[in-house]
Amino acid sequence: MEKMPYQPELDAIAIQATTPVVSTDWQQRLPFLCGTRVVMRELRRSDAMSLFAMLNSEEVSRFISPPPSTVDGFERFIDWTLRQRVAGAYVCFAVTLSDDDTAIGLFQVRQLEPGFGTAEWGFALGSAYWGTGLFHEAAELVLEFSFETIGVHRLEARAAIRNGRGNGALRKLGATPEAVLRKSFRKNGEYVDQALWTILDDEWRLRQAVWAGPVH
Ligand SMILES: CC(C)(COP(=O)(O)OP(=O)(O)OC[C@H]1O[C@@H](n2cnc3c(N)ncnc32)[C@H](O)[C@@H]1OP(=O)(O)O)[C@@H](O)C(=O)NCCC(=O)NCCS
Repeated sequence: MEKMPYQPELDAIAIQATTPVVSTDWQQRLPFLCGTRVVMRELRRSDAMSLFAMLNSEEVSRFISPPPSTVDGFERFIDWTLRQRVAGAYVCFAVTLSDDDTAIGLFQVRQLEPGFGTAEWGFALGSAYWGTGLFHEAAELVLEFSFETIGVHRLEARAAIRNGRGNGALRKLGATPEAVLRKSFRKNGEYVDQALWTILDDEWRLRQAVWAGPVH
């Protein structure tokens, strides 16, 4: 998600629960999504410091909306994510390691229509963890959660064309490049093109079945 939906200036505006959701449990509290090397969990205010350190580097923020620029700003962002989750419009997972609870990145999923039928996701990891396979593992957990728990039917991602890693990571996940969204994202005062990538629930389930192999 090149455009982070969080906008500090809208922070004070009350949010309405407008969405008939497939499963409401996650609105009370996000589950822990456990992989082999990663655990995805709800953000906590205490994650603000590590997320500030991980996501404010030039290489991480180069192609995405600027993350909050202070630890306080991250705390407000985290508070906002929790309110949005309660409203049923958005979820945000911290990426942590199985043996270390420090937040090293985050995944966001937001509804693009009431009920989460179509949604958009975005992600960022501290650069020390790029190319380690952690992203892929975390992404698969979030995909399963989005399709099987929230009930997303179509999941979109937007990546600046120049964002080689972002586009490469989506391609590796099996996302389909659908379009170029011309001059759709403003970065550093300049409008840039983005690629629109999608994953459909049916495609994802079929791929899971193929990977699982034949049933004997
Ligand atoms: C996007 C992000 C989470 C992906 O995590 P990652 O660990 O870097 O991803 P991976 O290494 O699994 O996959 C990236 C792939 O892109 C490839 N790649 C890197 N640069 C590339 C380029 N310029 N052109 C094409 N592919 C490129 C990598 O080689 C890798 O593929 P490989 O494993 O087959 O070699 C991480 O890079 C990040 O946090 N970036 C900053 C935030 C961001 O851009 N978010 C994406 C918004 S859509």
